[in-house]
Amino acid sequence: MTKRVAVIGSGYVGTVVSACLAHIGHNVIGVESDNAKLELLRDGRAPFYERNLDQLLEAGRQAGRLGFTSDMALAMDESDLVFICVGTPSRPDGKADMSAMLEVAQAAAPHVKHPHTFINKSTVPIGSGRWLSSVIEDAAGDPRVTKLVRVASNPEFLREGTAVSDYLHPDRVVIGADDPASLDDIVELYQPVLDQSFPGSDQRGPVPLVKTDLMTAEMIKYAANAFLATKISFANEMARFCDLMGADIQTVTAGIGLDQRIGPRFLNAGLGWGGSCFTKDVLAMVTTAAEYGYQARLLEATLAINNDQRHLVVERLLRHLKNLRGARIALLGLSYKPGTDDLRDSPALDIATQVIEYGAFVSAYDPVVKALPAGLPVRIASDAYAAAEGADAVVVATEWPQFIDLDFARLRSAMKGELLFDGRNCLSPTIVGAAGLVYEGVGRRVPGSARRLAIDLRA
Ligand code: UGA
Repeated sequence: MTKRVAVIGSGYVGTVVSACLAHIGHNVIGVESDNAKLELLRDGRAPFYERNLDQLLEAGRQAGRLGFTSDMALAMDESDLVFICVGTPSRPDGKADMSAMLEVAQAAAPHVKHPHTFINKSTVPIGSGRWLSSVIEDAAGDPRVTKLVRVASNPEFLREGTAVSDYLHPDRVVIGADDPASLDDIVELYQPVLDQSFPGSDQRGPVPLVKTDLMTAEMIKYAANAFLATKISFANEMARFCDLMGADIQTVTAGIGLDQRIGPRFLNAGLGWGGSCFTKDVLAMVTTAAEYGYQARLLEATLAINNDQRHLVVERLLRHLKNLRGARIALLGLSYKPGTDDLRDSPALDIATQVIEYGAFVSAYDPVVKALPAGLPVRIASDAYAAAEGADAVVVATEWPQFIDLDFARLRSAMKGELLFDGRNCLSPTIVGAAGLVYEGVGRRVPGSARRLAIDLRA
């Protein structure tokens, strides 16, 4: 059944939600206050890079099922279900900053004239659903609104770069609400995804549905991100062991990942996670736990290990080059992962900042990112070879597929030095070594490294 949906906030999550809900047959109106973004969206274009999103935006626009506005009154008038998709960044104390959510709730409240279900997509502190309904009721200034407002949680598990496919073919849909009517409404909204009956669906079989209460749904989102982050830190801790013991992390994670209880995904050791979600959410859990008198020791360690991975590359550069003053370091990859232009909490930027502090000169190439925040003196090159020109060391910071097929002999001849640090364990040590480069990975066993170590010991 076609629903009337408003989506407040047209960032990464909101734009994907708008485009996908229109694609599965609903009438969607996206709300965005930034005029430049609004113009792009009305033109059928996303204000950021995300695979397949522009096509869906354009198709939704042409079908007359998707529009964007800055007019909250209009959006509320034309909707029954209202998704809130605004940012909840970390505050300096580690807690989630709820000011954007407060602002949209207060802006929407006076326009509640018929029954609305507000659905939280943003990752919010546990208990925010109840908080949201109180904020709306107070801001509406009309006690009758209490009967018109319902609140639900529908956490999102989208990954940037594959967000459209994650939305349309999810592993599960989680819906939390304390009233059965909201639950039923949202289940109906998702029916085409749940039974994979929307046009162009390529996945057979129904998608599992978790129907629960508001707080449990909010907790599922945090627990999922905390677990994924912990899995990555676990792999990185094992990689440290491998380095010490002379074992190979790639084979170790393949060996444990084949155990169906463990699974192979999110076990890639390297520079650790970046992006806007994992650190923010795990930190929010640690701070909330402390506030309620519990020390979340596992999550504290998860964060600490991730932070250490960013120092690892600097330690290795220092070990090889001894002194970084005036050294040229080339970074391959700037975004926090492939498939996106997002630089938030990107390990590459952290590494650039650290080596610049040591006096190094940094050049970089990224297939999508063409500009960096002001104040970071990094030369952006037109390709990987140009970035490597005269470099003492090259660091692969993002595993863009293009880097796997580089001509490493050409890279080597562009460089002054010979060190290639594969911060994502995405290259073949044998191929890189055959091109005359010294390969270093994270916890990887490198052919010939035992021989080099023997030489080092003799020296
Ligand atoms: C993450 C979750 O995967 C989504 O399910 C969730 O919806 C989202 O956060 C969110 O809360 O909004 P995302 O940050 O887009 O999604 O990216 P991921 O693909 O999860 O990667 C996060 C980081 O972990 C990247 O820097 C990636 O390089 C790193 N990573 C990932 C590893 O270092 N090792 C791995 O094995 C996997």
